[in-house]
Amino acid sequence: MSAPARPRPVGGSYDPARTTGGGLTAELARLEAQAELSFAEELRILGELGIGGATANAPLLELGAGSGAITRRLRSAFPALPLIAADIDGELLSHAADSGAELMVADAAGLPLEDGSAGCVLLRYVLQHVADPAAVVAEALRVLRPGGTIVVTEVDSSCWGLADPAYPELAPIHAKIARAQEQAGGDRSIGRRLTRLLRGAGCTDIALRPFATTNDDLPTEMFAPHLGPQRLEPLVAAGVLTFPELALAADRWNRFRKDPDAWVMLLGFTAAGTAP
Ligand SMILES: C[S@@+](CC[C@H](N)C(=O)[O-])C[C@H]1O[C@@H](n2cnc3c(N)ncnc32)[C@H](O)[C@@H]1O
Repeated sequence: MSAPARPRPVGGSYDPARTTGGGLTAELARLEAQAELSFAEELRILGELGIGGATANAPLLELGAGSGAITRRLRSAFPALPLIAADIDGELLSHAADSGAELMVADAAGLPLEDGSAGCVLLRYVLQHVADPAAVVAEALRVLRPGGTIVVTEVDSSCWGLADPAYPELAPIHAKIARAQEQAGGDRSIGRRLTRLLRGAGCTDIALRPFATTNDDLPTEMFAPHLGPQRLEPLVAAGVLTFPELALAADRWNRFRKDPDAWVMLLGFTAAGTAP
């Protein structure tokens, strides 16, 4: 597999070199931390959907697999399941080489795969970054065998979760982040559209499985990739946020993490459907 030439970004509104302060190296760590935070819940849902069992003979295709943070965990959870990890960004995907999956540099909207060749397609935090999510879902259904399962995991900016204490003064910052992603061709409110996207593409047996991750079960520090200020640093460099806004966010995160009674619940949305 050869890495494609730059320029970045190649993955729609996602630019791994400018997603968090510290560039690509920090983003690789952030993707890993993000997977570690919620994969147990996501795996429970995959199990309920029958992934890894009924689909075990046909490959699971992870579209937009990125650095392989989820691919490696899927490999551990389902050692016998054939895995294909595809991503438009060959450099990022090269970090998934240790996952044991077949790697494929490809645009999710035009895959070099035969019709009906996959048993399951998983898209995690990908549709929020693409300009035409319906085209990606249609392509996923093309490569799924009839009766195969498409699984899509996403967020929704209006329904991200809950924190107590809450800091309403951060709301304008979050709105600016969502707007910047939208201007780059993405959609942080995609969570609410998932079941309709699957239904519109012709899926049956549509299911929505929201999942929660809280600091009841995990240390508050593990939520830093989502709640901490590092993620905001490139947005200051890009002129989306100001230094005072970054300082405000850093201050509230520091208050939150030092408060032994502070509570956070992050919400994710997994939607699934059966290919016709
Ligand atoms: C936020 S990252 C998520 C990576 C991985 N799914 C995870 O959960 O760790 C989004 C990924 O989608 C990929 N991506 C964006 N647009 C794509 C497209 N049109 N085709 C394939 N991959 C795409 C990006 O390159 C990036 O790896």
